[in-house]
Amino acid sequence: MSTPASESLREAEAQPQAPRMSRDEVLRKHKQYLFPCVVTYYTEPLVAARGEMQYLWDIEGRRYLDFFGGILTVSVGHCHPKVTARIKQQVERLPHASTVYATEEMVALAETLARITPGRLEKSFFTNSGTEANEAAVLLARMYSGNFDVVALRYGYSGHSLLAKSLTALSNWRKSGVISVGVAHAVNPYCYRCPLHLSYPSCGVACAEDIEETIRTATSGGIAAFLAETIQGAGGFIVPPREYFKMVFTIVKKYGGLFIADEVQTGFGRTGKHWFGIEHWEVEPDIITTAKGMANGTPVGATIATPEVANAFKGLTISTFGGNPVTSVAAKATIEVIEEEHLLDNAHRVGAYFRQKLEALQQKHALIGDVRGMGLMQGLELVKDRKTKEPAPEATNQFMDRCRDHGLLIGKGGLYGNVIRLSPPLNIRESDVDQAVEIMDKALGQVSV
Ligand SMILES: Cc1ncc(COP(=O)(O)O)c(C=O)c1O
Repeated sequence: MSTPASESLREAEAQPQAPRMSRDEVLRKHKQYLFPCVVTYYTEPLVAARGEMQYLWDIEGRRYLDFFGGILTVSVGHCHPKVTARIKQQVERLPHASTVYATEEMVALAETLARITPGRLEKSFFTNSGTEANEAAVLLARMYSGNFDVVALRYGYSGHSLLAKSLTALSNWRKSGVISVGVAHAVNPYCYRCPLHLSYPSCGVACAEDIEETIRTATSGGIAAFLAETIQGAGGFIVPPREYFKMVFTIVKKYGGLFIADEVQTGFGRTGKHWFGIEHWEVEPDIITTAKGMANGTPVGATIATPEVANAFKGLTISTFGGNPVTSVAAKATIEVIEEEHLLDNAHRVGAYFRQKLEALQQKHALIGDVRGMGLMQGLELVKDRKTKEPAPEATNQFMDRCRDHGLLIGKGGLYGNVIRLSPPLNIRESDVDQAVEIMDKALGQVSV
């Protein structure tokens, strides 16, 4: 017997594909119907239409080598066949259940996360974004510790909610109505522009000691948590010295706090060799927050804690879409691909190759003041003059435009908008790096400072 549902399915199948919009139409509607604060890259905005592994096509059919991956999110390539197949199967079986029912998909992902996260991290709370992951982590730390104050770092980015914005310390992302109640910001470990005007290693990593000074002066003297990205992402791929987090960990514990590692950008092999950035610093965090690259582009967030911390959550909580079956299978498939294709090693090896090529570019182009990063998370800080280190944001925009003209997509960040962020999929090869560096070389030659 034919049901109304099967009739409407037949009808939908009989419909011709809806006509695609033109580039101009998309941009006109973007301007008309979206909040203007949702800014796009490039002098002539790009309209993304489809992706396949390391390539992205715009709506006019131009192919680009994608070295930004939708802000460090496309971990294993656009539409990776394994991830796509799992998503399709799940959409046809059960796209949604909510957290009022247990599902096999959700617990299988949680079990996998317990296996790959460092130390005793074992229990997950799933949400839809990095912002929510950080919100949940801070709330949990306050419940666990009985303290309220949180120490975060200048140049940090934690998300777009009010609490996440108050943790954030980049003025562009904190406009109007953002007040950091219960959040104190310490100086960040930014060796290229040391906030304490010292030099590593003779500085003795004094920036780590500033955490203690901040706790003593800008909090009640006891803290709920210290929250930081292991490599500051939006702040401009700022990599702390190797002693930094161990020193900070000792201080945080002395004042009763939990150590929260924000791995939204650095998670899932991005930094090479390890699953999570913090593992490079040999610290076992109490909580990891993650999102972006975890599910290769499907919306996800996770707050992963030790059992005693997770068990301290008082009352109830819910996230309707948290642990959604489609997202959960996408995340698990992404993790499997990283394991099957040995991508922790690939990110380490190809990342080192990439770094060497970027340092060679720096020798050739005075615009590049600093090269930094880990694995396949590499940044270039562009400056007008290497001595004064005056930031070069206009040249950064020109450079991005020229790279795009030659078929390469890259990102940017930094307080001054002068840091190029490079984050290709973890399964790229040396030949992709060669191509990207060749384009960057050509583009740098076309930038006027
Ligand atoms: C380090 C870090 N934390 C948190 C967030 C917020 O994540 P989302 O945009 O998924 O809310 C971001 C986003 O860029 C981030 O880079």
